[in-house]
Amino acid sequence: MPDPLVIAHLTDPHLPLGTPRIGDLMGKRALSYANWLRRRRRLHRPEIAAAIVADLKAAEPDAIAMTGDLVNFSLESEFQAGAAWLRDLGPPELVGVIPGNHEGLTRGFTQRMMRHWAPYLSGDDGRPGFPWLRRRGPVALIGLSSAVATPPLMASGRVGAEQCAALDRILETTGREGLCRVILVHHAPTEMSIWRKALRDRAALVDVIQARGAELILHGHTHRADLSWIDTRSGRVPVIGAPSASMTPLPGHDQGAWRRLAIERASNGWHLTLTERRVTRVGTLENGAALHFALPGGMDAGAALAPSAASP
Ligand SMILES: [Fe+2]
Repeated sequence: MPDPLVIAHLTDPHLPLGTPRIGDLMGKRALSYANWLRRRRRLHRPEIAAAIVADLKAAEPDAIAMTGDLVNFSLESEFQAGAAWLRDLGPPELVGVIPGNHEGLTRGFTQRMMRHWAPYLSGDDGRPGFPWLRRRGPVALIGLSSAVATPPLMASGRVGAEQCAALDRILETTGREGLCRVILVHHAPTEMSIWRKALRDRAALVDVIQARGAELILHGHTHRADLSWIDTRSGRVPVIGAPSASMTPLPGHDQGAWRRLAIERASNGWHLTLTERRVTRVGTLENGAALHFALPGGMDAGAALAPSAASP
């Protein structure tokens, strides 16, 4: 049997890459900056993100998935500094990025983000935009954008009809190819967040996933080790959320971590072994328990809904 394909998942590092100037502090950005000064800057620490990145790089994964909220205020200066951070993380062929609600905090973010991160927001065709598609061995990585500028106090997301239609086509093609289809999206397409932070059109996204099938969904946004499911005709698809990659180990918060996802073919579908590498109070990294998942095996794997096959 060939070696498993290893994906490293990290999300929501909320790096301190830039400070808004007085003129930047309008509306939503002012609220976000106040929240940063009051709370977030003590929770999200760059030294923890650095330890996590060093550990991740030493593991030499086959692909790196970064599911958003690299920045805090959607400033041009943050995107510029974020590009250097991404280059340190790895080359664009290795690192696929999707934006979160903090990239999309204010209008015009797409242009600011694309100016600096385009190669990381692209598929194998080299064209920046969403959804992007990257084939890596037996795995199809599919990156969606749920980032949209929203009113103050809202952190909701939206994928939109155009991306849903493109995703439908990609899932069909890659499903026919027999690939393990892994969808990346910042906001969970399940009910993991309160309404003002939720994916507004998740029903439309779930419709596509149920119609075409998928094997795995990875998300960020909640800063928690989350697990939910979407039932499809070919089986239950795990929807897995990861903690922030910079969170200080404090009571009440999931400590900073990245996840190692090893995917290999199984007799009926795919087998996923998920190992969390989490930061300890002394700044080292340790393994969490390995979680094992039986992933669906494509649209031909079975017509009936299969029961959950996860085990701790
Ligand atoms: Fe976040």
